[in-house]
Amino acid sequence: MTPLALSTAATLALIVGVAVALAFIGGLIMLAMRRRAAARGPDIPPGMRPGPADEVLERQHIDRTMARGVAFMLLIAPWLAVIWLGEPGQNADDERELAARSVERGEMWFQVSSEENPTGFGCARCHGEQGEGGTVAYTSPDGQVIPEYPVPALNTVCGGASTGHPLITSVADIQTTIMEGREGTPMPSWSVRFAGPMNDQQILDLINYLVKLNQGNVPFEQNICTNPQAAAATPAPGPTTTPGESQ
Ligand code: HEC
Repeated sequence: MTPLALSTAATLALIVGVAVALAFIGGLIMLAMRRRAAARGPDIPPGMRPGPADEVLERQHIDRTMARGVAFMLLIAPWLAVIWLGEPGQNADDERELAARSVERGEMWFQVSSEENPTGFGCARCHGEQGEGGTVAYTSPDGQVIPEYPVPALNTVCGGASTGHPLITSVADIQTTIMEGREGTPMPSWSVRFAGPMNDQQILDLINYLVKLNQGNVPFEQNICTNPQAAAATPAPGPTTTPGESQ
């Protein structure tokens, strides 16, 4: 890890910026030295020397100052335009980077806590390292011991009923399950809102990770996480929906 993790463009901009600043300071020093060398005659402090005549002030000085202003404007105006034109691309890049980082964090939360991954919450302990599912020993609330309680795979959870997840019809269902858990099963609640250990951002990171994990495994046509049509085609559980009522 470098102390300043800068992109190539940012590094270039930094180098150019430092060079311009150095040139500016160097110019000021040179100007001051030249003035001092040019000062002849009695040593009068600058503030007490007689100023330029009106004629010089109103012509030479004013012209020079205005010319500098124009030059500065010509520099700034295209610069602003260039920055403004690059802004949408910059924003899109930022958004992609934030999404990618969320997925990375989601994977960290998902894996088992270890020396390399101290912030793991251990979904992988039951759902498998790649979300492939498995079994876990479970004692039900009424004291029944189930040595191999089946744990669903999460690398296909976005398929909903079509990949064996009948209770999942949308991303919202995944979110609710993670936040609230499933009573009477080994799946605990994870949100602080339901006496769990995770905040909302961590839950969102997990969902982003799961959606990404599913992209390679669940075809788009049946992916209820990324395809609104697939989500609409899946009938919601409950007696109120009649088959074929989807929009
Ligand atoms: C102690 C074991 C265990 C742990 C730890 C665990 N789960 Fe689960 N999870 C289960 C079981 C068992 C089910 C299925 C419950 C049932 O029978 O409906 C489940 C169900 C789910 C479902 C719904 C899947 C479906 O097909 O309906 C999701 C999503 C899920 N878990 C996500 C997570 C996430 C994310 C974590 C980590 C924060 C996690 N689980 C940690 C055992 C676990």
